[in-house]
Amino acid sequence: MREILVTSALPYANGYIHLGHLVEYIQTDIWVRAMKAQGHQVTYVCADDAHGTAIMLKAEANGITPEEQIATVKASHEADFAKFLIDFDNYYTTHSEENQHFSELIYRRLNSAGHISTRDVKQLFDPEKQLFLADRFVKGTCPECDAADQYGDNCEVCGTTYNATELKNPQSTLSDSTPVLKTSKHYFFDLPEFEQFLKDWTHSDNRLQPAIVNKLQEWFDSGLASWDISRDAPYFGFQIPDTPSNEPDKYFYVWLDAPVGYMASFKNLCEQRKGTDNALDFDRYWAQENENKTEVYHFIGKDIVYFHALFWPAMLAGSEFRTPTGVFAHGFLMVNGEKMSKSRGTFIKAETYAEYLQPEYLRYYFASKLSDKVEDINLDLEDFMQKVNSDLIGKVVNIASRSAGFLVKKYDGMLSEVCAEPRLLEDITKTGDEIAAAYENREFSRAMRLIMQCADKANEYIDAKKPWSLAKLEGTEQEVQDVCSVAINIFRQLMVYLAPVLPEMTDNAKEFLNIDDLSFASRNQWLLGHQIKKFKPLMQRIEEKDVAAMVEASKASLVTTEAPITTADAPSMKDAKPAAKNAQGKKSTAESAEQTDYISIDDFSKVEMKVAHVIACNYVEGADKLLQFTLDVGEDKPRNVFSGIRKFYEPEQLVDKKVICVTNLAPRKMKFGISEGMVLSSGDPKTALVVITLPDAAIVGDVLG
Ligand code: 2FM
Ligand code: ZN
Repeated sequence: MREILVTSALPYANGYIHLGHLVEYIQTDIWVRAMKAQGHQVTYVCADDAHGTAIMLKAEANGITPEEQIATVKASHEADFAKFLIDFDNYYTTHSEENQHFSELIYRRLNSAGHISTRDVKQLFDPEKQLFLADRFVKGTCPECDAADQYGDNCEVCGTTYNATELKNPQSTLSDSTPVLKTSKHYFFDLPEFEQFLKDWTHSDNRLQPAIVNKLQEWFDSGLASWDISRDAPYFGFQIPDTPSNEPDKYFYVWLDAPVGYMASFKNLCEQRKGTDNALDFDRYWAQENENKTEVYHFIGKDIVYFHALFWPAMLAGSEFRTPTGVFAHGFLMVNGEKMSKSRGTFIKAETYAEYLQPEYLRYYFASKLSDKVEDINLDLEDFMQKVNSDLIGKVVNIASRSAGFLVKKYDGMLSEVCAEPRLLEDITKTGDEIAAAYENREFSRAMRLIMQCADKANEYIDAKKPWSLAKLEGTEQEVQDVCSVAINIFRQLMVYLAPVLPEMTDNAKEFLNIDDLSFASRNQWLLGHQIKKFKPLMQRIEEKDVAAMVEASKASLVTTEAPITTADAPSMKDAKPAAKNAQGKKSTAESAEQTDYISIDDFSKVEMKVAHVIACNYVEGADKLLQFTLDVGEDKPRNVFSGIRKFYEPEQLVDKKVICVTNLAPRKMKFGISEGMVLSSGDPKTALVVITLPDAAIVGDVLG
């Protein structure tokens, strides 16, 4: 028996749970249930991520204390998770004594090992609110292209990244006042010291998905930077211990104590279970010397890999704790092929979904989409309805509903003493090994496919035997009982296989099947000479009107309730240089989904793109990020276009090349002249920006879209 500790990322205590979050909790919960069903001792813990400026400000806006704020949100999160059958062994909060204890302990160990240093940081400060402003709380004019109303980390017009201190005419979004520059001492964790350790750690077998290992390699290549782990008062969090008493209070940045929350929640569970039969030993899971005795896995969204695969293992290794066995990242949720959108009603709260539809439908649909890859998954509402109805109702429940009736009516619910179709049942029992492996490898979509293939075999068997016709003939009693008994046995196997995904439905099936075990091993004991009970419908079909009503209600609910405020505690430019891409306007798992709406195909078709011939390309005096293009786009006159890609190209590399130019972008007046279009480029503005060039065969002036 393996001893396994599993976590999901901790949701911020300033907003509701939505379907985007649920991808992760459902994925983790299915994995935990499947591993438990295979007989392992698995413990699943989570907590609310309760600290940070955003939560402090949210409480202030609501006229309550941060403690009241986080208590209310925690209760609502727990209620939502319960509806979706997320079965945590413990759900705690990062604002806890245990978390303070471990955060301080880790910090002190890092500090005494020489991994913490301090240096002065100049930051914008809101004189009215009396607080330092994170980048997302400052707006101003882009220092590069003069576009107004840009956030403090990057310009949405020209794509330049900068420090908030470089913005022209900065304004605090919290008070509209003009921020002032103020210097303060910050504490840094020396990540670069762990570079070799992290390279070895990230490359060790099965620790991370291949796509993540590649991403990390890019970050290693661009160099690790030390990490700013302190924030100045006022801040809702833990004070950094052992700082000089004559200096202002410093707090741990929320991302320092958030992952420690995994340990703290587990510690709290150990205390709760002390002296009971299922007691847990904290050190067995977290002490370095026990690293090979137990396993620790973190399920996370792809946007917070940096924290879990670099900072967190380095913090643990530097403070003599064990590091995670594996970190598993998943992609984001799309709805109907697009990013979740409030206006389209596809930004759906967990609570709203549960008012209209059964949570198990979603669990099954997500399972049918999830794999071990980091890819985004799509909830296509039409496909969702069809798939659930056809797979669960049409295939699975149907097996029981068309065989149980005969058995109960004619044979008092007794199944045959001997299996009439042992080959078929053996085949389906054996497929269970593949299904168990697929669950363990997080290939849930494969598991669901295998399960549905088993269901298809059962239905083909019933269709071929036609018990309803047999029952009308004389002298076929035994055969009818045999056929229906085989069908019920297959149905029981399917309940074992589906139990991690559909815990409620399979629990109800347990009652009707008159069994008390759905562990994977239990399927080897076929039900022979066994009595079942009266069949009750196990699941209703999804009705189109309910899906439509949920979408309508989502539009309404998001208009009438305030959206969670954006957090200033998401990965920030200041966290570490290579995380810059993450930081640009992107939010944490919880919020990334609602930041910007995806554009529709109609929006996209408004963009006019032409293949352009670069007649000339030059440096721009006084702008060290820009190149000036003279482009032939097949019009009477060439166009003048500025592009912020100087860092990546020498002008002569681009002369005579073909690029794609957006030609119907409104002309923009810049300090250096008017820009009459945009040169399309792709990739990470920090590392891999590439101008799209076409093969010579392309015709200048071709309209592409
Ligand atoms: O991105 C987020 O929503 C964070 N609250 C996740 C924290 S996970 C862990 F580190 F605590
Ligand atoms: Zn700009």
